[in-house]
Amino acid sequence: MHIAMVSAECAPIAKAGGLGDFVQGLARELARCGERVEVILPAYDSLRLASSDQPRPLGIEFQVPFRGVPIDCRILGLSLDGYECRLIAPRSAQRFFERGRLYGEPDDAERFAFFSRAVADYVSRSESRPDVLHCNDWQTGLIPVLLAERQAADERIPVCYSLHNVGYQGWVEADLLTAVGLDPARLLTPERLADPGDPRRANLMKGGIAAADVVNTVSPRYAWEIQNTEQGMGLQAWFQRHDYKFGGILNGIDETVWNPLTDPLIPVNFGPETLPRKALDRQALRARLGLEEASDRPIIAVVSRLDRQKGVDLIAHGLQYGLASGAQIALLGSAIEPAIAERFAQLKSRLEASPHARLELGYDESLAHLIYAGADLVLIPSLYEPCGLTQLIAMRYGTVPIARRVGGLTDTIQDANYSSAPFESRNGYLFDEPTTEALEGAMDRAIALWRDHPDYFSRLRLNGMQGDYSWRRPAREYRDLYAYARQAQCSRAS
Ligand code: ADP
Ligand code: GLC
Repeated sequence: MHIAMVSAECAPIAKAGGLGDFVQGLARELARCGERVEVILPAYDSLRLASSDQPRPLGIEFQVPFRGVPIDCRILGLSLDGYECRLIAPRSAQRFFERGRLYGEPDDAERFAFFSRAVADYVSRSESRPDVLHCNDWQTGLIPVLLAERQAADERIPVCYSLHNVGYQGWVEADLLTAVGLDPARLLTPERLADPGDPRRANLMKGGIAAADVVNTVSPRYAWEIQNTEQGMGLQAWFQRHDYKFGGILNGIDETVWNPLTDPLIPVNFGPETLPRKALDRQALRARLGLEEASDRPIIAVVSRLDRQKGVDLIAHGLQYGLASGAQIALLGSAIEPAIAERFAQLKSRLEASPHARLELGYDESLAHLIYAGADLVLIPSLYEPCGLTQLIAMRYGTVPIARRVGGLTDTIQDANYSSAPFESRNGYLFDEPTTEALEGAMDRAIALWRDHPDYFSRLRLNGMQGDYSWRRPAREYRDLYAYARQAQCSRAS
């Protein structure tokens, strides 16, 4: 099967968070199973390329009409470890992807609308046509709409649409539809793209859901939450209406990238059989961050995009509470929103008066690996969490998660004390309400076990390390979903 995955992110070259990990992990596993996989991305100027990775022109050039102006565009090809990338490179002065970063620009909607139109044009060429197109998140929601508008039902490319974050739906002005050649008068209706909260505006995710053949989100629990609670962020009824083609598939992690036995980014490799070696990575983490050597203190870490979704108030509180409870704390956090960045800069200068607290503000892939390897506990107090990969990665590295019981965190963490699961599958700590009291309760339980019963704490670490978080199962489920999308397309045609 020829699968084209379209996304705003793909690790390692374009990653801001878990979406990048998702695309890389799934693409590699599908390719390993013998599928032909192509990942389509914008040709960002900020791609993190190794010196051996050089995008090459594929000789495919076309004009993309945007706001009435034809924009010359070409396709660059890049072979990465296990899969192929296609980069959409506009040649004009629009500078859509020359911003030094992936997102967070005032004209993100404009940039990704252009990208969507270019991708729809590229895959519609008979030479590039995939058997199935896999779109991801709001940035690509217009693609199924564009394809449905231009292709007759019997020749439409089957589309699978995955939702990684319903907090960002792509709310845009109607004229953006005109910009990509769509007719707002036809599409800005309650049945199609009109936003339920403000029907004068278009909602790209909503439109994508209606036009795609199959839709999924990244955990079964989040699939339920967005249909039945305010986590649907205004689209609850829309999800319910499309439940016949909607479901949840839990993410995996790429076990070649995230494997403490082989990880080249950590000083000492270890596995379940050599768990004591993790202590050497803990030492290295302390040295890297300048934390005082303190064998009587667990290291509680946070690795996060500091977005409201992640529970920034609870993160800030958890760091202070951890420190006051006699732990060491280490945060690696990247914030896009200036107010959040400022708040954590202040917290950093306050907490770093202690030799037991370090806050690194920014994005740092190799430090993230060292933190997972060296820390004892990782804090994930998310307000909502479609799947969450940090808990899976942490568990793989013998680091025990303390997380809020939402979304994919619920599906992947079994509470050490309150789960009905057998002891050998308990792997972390969960709390329910997004309150400081609930967070403190879970932290108290975790710190007490670390301190008073280290042998039981090691068992929790080992339980986490031995879980199967690979992409094998999810990749099988996506292949079934693609097959279902193709059948749906066939039945539409008949
Ligand atoms: P989300 O996609 O919502 O950010 P996930 O838990 O799915 O959350 O994935 C987060 C991914 O991004 C993980 O691979 C994590 O290690 C990485 N990550 C998050 N923040 C940073 C950061 N500041 N520096 C390096 N890696 C980060
Ligand atoms: C999003 C979600 C996160 C999920 C990731 C990959 O960024 O916030 O929960 O793990 O996508 O699907």
